Amino acid sequence: MPKSTPKTLIAGNWKMNGRRENLSEIKSVSEGVQATKQGPEVLVCPPAHLLGLAIDAEKDSQLHFGAQDCHAEEDGAYTGDISAEMLADLGAKYVILGHSERRQGHNETDSQVRAKVKAAVRAGLIPIICVGETAGEQTRGRTVARISRQLNGSLPEVLGEARFVIAYEPIWAIGTGLVPTPKQIADVHAMIRGRLSDRFGTNGETTQILYGGSVKPGNAAELLAIENVNGALVGGASLKATDFLGIIQSQVSEVA
Ligand code: 13P
Repeated sequence: MPKSTPKTLIAGNWKMNGRRENLSEIKSVSEGVQATKQGPEVLVCPPAHLLGLAIDAEKDSQLHFGAQDCHAEEDGAYTGDISAEMLADLGAKYVILGHSERRQGHNETDSQVRAKVKAAVRAGLIPIICVGETAGEQTRGRTVARISRQLNGSLPEVLGEARFVIAYEPIWAIGTGLVPTPKQIADVHAMIRGRLSDRFGTNGETTQILYGGSVKPGNAAELLAIENVNGALVGGASLKATDFLGIIQSQVSEVA
C-alpha cells in the first residue's frame, strides 16, 4: 500500500495535565497550524475539564479535539464516568481508548475496550485504539502475540465503514525517552496493517496507524517516515505549543 494513502494525523494526549491557563498553548498551536498549508490533521486531547472550553475557544480553528476515555453506556448511574454521546455533545471528534495507562492503572480489559469502541462509533466519534507491549514482553519476543491479542479483543467484529485509528505505543517507550528502532516499528506497523486489512478490507487498508512513545520534535521526521506510520500520538511533547508545533511542522510540505 502506498505510504501516502491515509492522511497524517498528529495527536496530542495531555493525559492528566493542564489548567485553564494552559488553554493558551492550544491557541498557539492553532495559530501555528493556521500558518501552514498542506499540513497534517492535528488533534488535541486535553483532560475532561478543559475539553469543552478548548472546543468553544477554538471553534473556528483547524484543530480537532478528542477525549481520553469514555464509558460504554449512553447514560446511567455511573458516577464519575462520561459517555461517548456526552463527548459528542461537547463537539469532540475523537476519543482515545485502551491507553496502556488505563489498561494498567484501571485494569481495563480488551472486552471493556471493545465495548467502549462500539460506544464511540455509536456516538459518531472516531476511536483511537491503543495497543502495545511491556518491556518484558518485548525482551521475550512476545510483541506480536500481545498486539494480536489486543487487536482481536479490543476491536469489534464489525466496523463497517466507521473510521477508527490504531495507536501502537510500546509501554516501555512511553515517557522514557526510549524509542524502538525504525525496523521494530516498521515490523509492528506492517503486522497491524496486515491484520486490519484481513479483518476490515479497504477500511483496514486506509486506517491510520499512529506511533506513540517519546515522540519529540527531534525524532518526529524520522519516525513518521517509516512505512505504515500514519501519524503520532504524543504525550509529553504535546503540552508545550513550541514542541508540538515542532512535530507538526516536520510534516508540513509548504508554509503559507
Ligand atoms: P510520551 O510522548 O510522553 O512518551 O507519551 C506517549 C503517550 O502515552 C501518548 O498517548
